[in-house]
Amino acid sequence: LSRVVITGTGLFTPEGGVTNDELVASLTTATQRWNEDHSAEIARGDCTARDIPSSKFILRASGVGHRYVIDKEGVLDPTRMRPRLRKRGEDELSLQAEICVAAAREALAQAGREASDIDAVVVGCSNLQRAYPAVAIEVQAALGARGFAYDMNVACSSATFAIQNGVDALRCGHARRVLVLNPELTSGHTNFEAREFHFIFGDACTAVLLEREDDAAPAGVGEAWEVLGTRLVTQFSNNIRNDAGFLNRCEEPAREPRELLFRQNGRQVANEVCPMVAEHLRVHLADAGIPVERVKRLWLHQANLGMNRTIAKTLLGREVLPEEAPVILDEYANTSSAGSVIAFHKHRGGIGAGEHAVLCSFGAGYSIGSVLLRKLRD
Ligand code: COA
Repeated sequence: LSRVVITGTGLFTPEGGVTNDELVASLTTATQRWNEDHSAEIARGDCTARDIPSSKFILRASGVGHRYVIDKEGVLDPTRMRPRLRKRGEDELSLQAEICVAAAREALAQAGREASDIDAVVVGCSNLQRAYPAVAIEVQAALGARGFAYDMNVACSSATFAIQNGVDALRCGHARRVLVLNPELTSGHTNFEAREFHFIFGDACTAVLLEREDDAAPAGVGEAWEVLGTRLVTQFSNNIRNDAGFLNRCEEPAREPRELLFRQNGRQVANEVCPMVAEHLRVHLADAGIPVERVKRLWLHQANLGMNRTIAKTLLGREVLPEEAPVILDEYANTSSAGSVIAFHKHRGGIGAGEHAVLCSFGAGYSIGSVLLRKLRD
């Protein structure tokens, strides 16, 4: 079987940076108006007044300090609370394809590759903007890549699941170079009117270029991370749901609008998922014969700072230095499947050739994916 290496990564970041204070100010205005509009029902006890959000709570509970969104104005408008996106014609590149192309170009440039070198494109993300044709096929055409392309969705774990697909395709000889893309436009699925959900997410798109080692640049040229192994696991849970789907218009009774957006039992997710992830990583590393103390860096899914500290501490059996498990929540918030790849993209300096590291995602499903890496060359 061919050895597989990551030779480039890319990141698209929207221009619209939103601080916690800006988000809280918008939701506070919207909440006060809602409470005023429903004062009679609230007084009668037919509904309860909505609580005001707090920036202090957000930072303390999650580690999220800021996020980027595709349309800041629409998100912060207290009368709208969602992005305002121009409807594009069928002859125009779709928004998700556009951000994929931007991230892909950076990954290709980093690896010194042309789009025509690519013969498989996998788009993995939590929400696809349409059913078909696949966004991945649109990206393939826009880039001028060859071969085949498809979309897939395993929510926050879409990147690691797509990486395993890419690695398998390379090892089996179905492709020679695979682009994995994660266009996460989470502001489309975020309920900005609910204080328990409004702060969680941010938008971004990541790209990872996978190649067979025998096809990659000659030794000594360009960065390369060998994929030593991948492992995926899923276990059904209703604690994170988004029920938006093509049967919604047929269902009776119709669903509540909030059911068609992201929702979760956050506390329960944290309690259940942390031990699962730590154990998953321990066993994956043990089976690969890699002692945990040899792991130089953990690029974990970015949902909650406390969760990442807990997972890293459980795995390594000690307090973890911030640089050992980099966090991007302060700037990007939770970007779903893109999160661990953003951490890898921005914080992989200082690791020497031959040293080990782990990329790991987890989230809705539940789903967990881990990718064991060894740096081959700088
Ligand atoms: N501002 C102020 N208060 C808020 C608030 C906000 N924006 N959002 C929630 N609160 C309140 C809650 O209403 C609750 O109030 P109550 O005690 O009166 O009922 C209180 O804060 C505590 O809420 P809780 O949900 O228990 O907080 P938490 O410490 O569990 O933190 C998360 C919430 C979402 C940050 C945390 O649970 C989390 O990150 N979980 C993991 C999520 C995850 O990994 N998801 C994966 C899918 S992406």
